Order: sequence, then C-alpha cells, then structure tokens
Amino acid sequence: MAQVIDGKALAASVDEHTAAEVAALVAGGGPRPGLAVVLVGEDPASQVYVRRKIAGCRKVGIASFERLLPADTTQDDLLAVIEELNADPAVHGILCQVPLPPHIDQGLVLDAIHPDKDVDGFHPVNVGRLSTGTGGIVPCTPLGVMMLLDSVLPDLMGLDVVVIGKSNIVGKPIAMLLLEREATVTVTHIHTKGLPAIARKADVIVAAAGAPELVRGDWVKPGAVVIDVGITRVPGANGKDRLVGDVAFAELDHARAVTPVPGGVGPMTIACLLSNTVKAARAAAGERVMEAAEL
Ligand code: GUN
Repeated sequence: MAQVIDGKALAASVDEHTAAEVAALVAGGGPRPGLAVVLVGEDPASQVYVRRKIAGCRKVGIASFERLLPADTTQDDLLAVIEELNADPAVHGILCQVPLPPHIDQGLVLDAIHPDKDVDGFHPVNVGRLSTGTGGIVPCTPLGVMMLLDSVLPDLMGLDVVVIGKSNIVGKPIAMLLLEREATVTVTHIHTKGLPAIARKADVIVAAAGAPELVRGDWVKPGAVVIDVGITRVPGANGKDRLVGDVAFAELDHARAVTPVPGGVGPMTIACLLSNTVKAARAAAGERVMEAAEL
C-alpha cells in the first residue's frame, strides 16, 4: 500500500507555525500582518476561494481586507484599488483573485501589484528571483508541493523528477524549486511524445496538467513518490460532481507515497499564502528598521 500523504494535517501544522509567528511578531512590537484579497465579479468558485482565504487569515491572526468589486469594474478603477493597497502600510500582501473578467488585462493588473506585496509570487520580479535562486516570494501551490515532498523525501539531490504541466503558476515554478534542490528535472506536458515511458523512469512525479486521471498506474515506477496537483470537477455516478486529480489514485498501490485529491495539495495552498503574508510583513518591518537605522 502506498502511503497517503495527508495535506490537511501538514497544512494544519503550517498554520500553527504561522499563528505562532504572527503572535511573536505582534508581541515584539512589529506590525500585525495584513492581507488584502481583491475579487472582481461573482464567479462562484472564486467566491468560495476568497472566503476560504479570509477565514484562513482569521484563524492565524492575520488582518484581512476584502475588496469585492462588481463585474463591470473598469481596468482603471481596479488599478486604482491596487495602487491604494500598494501604498497602505497595513497591507503586506495583495492577492487579486484570477480569472478576472475578460475586459480586464490580467497581466497588467498582476504586474501592478508591488513585488514585495505579491504574496502569490506571480509578479515578473518574483518569477525572475525564483529562476535565479535569489529569494523573492514563492508561489503558494509550488511551495506547498515542496513541503509535501519534504515530508516524505527530504533529500532530492540527484533524483529524477518528472513534472507534467508547464503552467506559469505551477509547472514552471515547481521545476525551478526542484532544480534549486539539485534534482534532475524533466518538464513535460500533455503533448510530450512518449510521456508514459518518461514518467516511468521518475523517482518523483509531479502531475499538474489539469487532465483528470492522466497518470495511470503503469506510468509509475514501483517506489516512486507522486504529487497530484490536478483538481477537476467531473460528474459522478450519483448525479453529484466529484473532484478528480491528474492521477488514477486507485492504481497506485505500488507507489511509495501519493497525495490524495481532495486533501493533498489543495489545503497546502492557503497555508502557504498565509505563511507568505507573514514573510512579507516581516520583510516590510525589517526594511523599516533598516531605514531608521540608516538615518
Ligand atoms: N485563482 C485560483 N487560484 C488562485 C491563486 O492561487 N491566486 C490567485 N490570485 N487567483 C487564483
């Protein structure tokens, strides 16, 4: 039987650590970390995500600032909100929920978030820092994937890791993080020729293609570790939707460890967002201390 990696439990322990960090920061005279969450429109899935993020803040003692804007908000008005949050010293992290309505240029808006407040790690400055291994804010899902991997396989040096999926938000940043850890990384995607054979050579598979049950049991070498980032809603037999990952979970008995869907990568993403917000608050407090010392 493969070990089922418990993302919920790991997320709870990350949250505990974050709550302790918030308490210590505030007790030491530092700022209470603050996260602004911006949502444009009424997409039901986005509303659920935003509510979870706000609830997460409350749980660990982070101040939250909600900006719920109507679907017809103009790009200029949204950019003005971002500018206001960039300038607000009580806000250390800004998250603009995507997708944005089609009349808004998503890239332009995400680039307008100050890189030091970009707790999603989407800003080109943070992408550049990640790919050069020079710090910056690491995107939440990739950070969560690395923590899950660490919980079963702390030393990745020289291991063959196959990443399936090349998105800017997941596949590419995960590849960068794995390279930093001296893994041998092969980045693939659904158009990769001979993908099953490539996957079969891997010590670790990170499946992030958004293709339900793409990775079958015979794609996985005995003893491999499999992290499933995919989450797709599909119609279930009883008329109710069910959530399916990129991996055929039931076929992975011979793996060493595997993340379930739901309850694997998903819970880690919000825990990492909260942790990133505290990091941003600490960096902002550190910079202010430095500025005062330089005067
Ligand atoms: N929409 C779905 N996931 C995310 C995320 O991690 N960050 C943002 N900003 N929007 C999302």
